[in-house]
Amino acid sequence: MFYDTESNAHGMAHDPFKAIVAPRPIGWIGTKGRDGSRNLSPYSFFNAVGDKPKMVMFSSSGRKDSLRNVQETGVFTASFVSRSLLDQMNASSAAVSYETDEFTLAGLTAAAGKLVDAPYVGEAVAALECCVTKVLTLPDMDGNETDSHAVFGQVVGIHIADAMIRGGRFDLASADPIMRLGYMDYAGMGPVFELKRPSQRG
Ligand SMILES: Cc1cc2nc3c(=O)[nH]c(=O)nc-3n(C[C@H](O)[C@H](O)[C@H](O)COP(=O)(O)O)c2cc1C
Repeated sequence: MFYDTESNAHGMAHDPFKAIVAPRPIGWIGTKGRDGSRNLSPYSFFNAVGDKPKMVMFSSSGRKDSLRNVQETGVFTASFVSRSLLDQMNASSAAVSYETDEFTLAGLTAAAGKLVDAPYVGEAVAALECCVTKVLTLPDMDGNETDSHAVFGQVVGIHIADAMIRGGRFDLASADPIMRLGYMDYAGMGPVFELKRPSQRG
């Protein structure tokens, strides 16, 4: 089948777009408002977008509390979502008032960032501390503003639980990440395999 996204006439009960651009990592974004209020929410429009310097991005569909906080303070954290924290991650996505602290709501420890004044998930096996470099309200192809707001951040500090370091590597299999698919679906990770680049062969 083929359909154009203006008509969006896919004929299915649910839009398949996010099921195609999948799996996506989940950035569990921790922020603080100017008034000191804490916020924690999962974002699957999230990824690493550069490594020299290290950069990540998350995108807010609409003006949500995390966006407000990064615009107020210029910093955020992104914690790693392991399968063991799935229920807490889901709980932290509840649409609650600005004042509600999702760390408390989800029964999580709000650990203080070492380099940025933003909280991260103390129970997470890894977390990134980030300084905002740009907030970009995404333009559409006609140059009109959309209501998608991409937040880019430079990673200034990285937490890794010592138990996750095996053989000098971050052991992703032990970290057991949860990935976001389309619909209400999630997936865990399959077996890890290595593939050398063509230039590294022979
Ligand atoms: C796994 C998962 C991924 C999500 N990804 C996004 C996303 O990329 N962008 C977004 O705007 N909302 C996303 N949401 C919804 C937000 O987490 C939710 O709207 C949350 O209440 C926003 O919180 P905030 O207003 O405190 O920032 C996601 C929810 C879940 C459960």
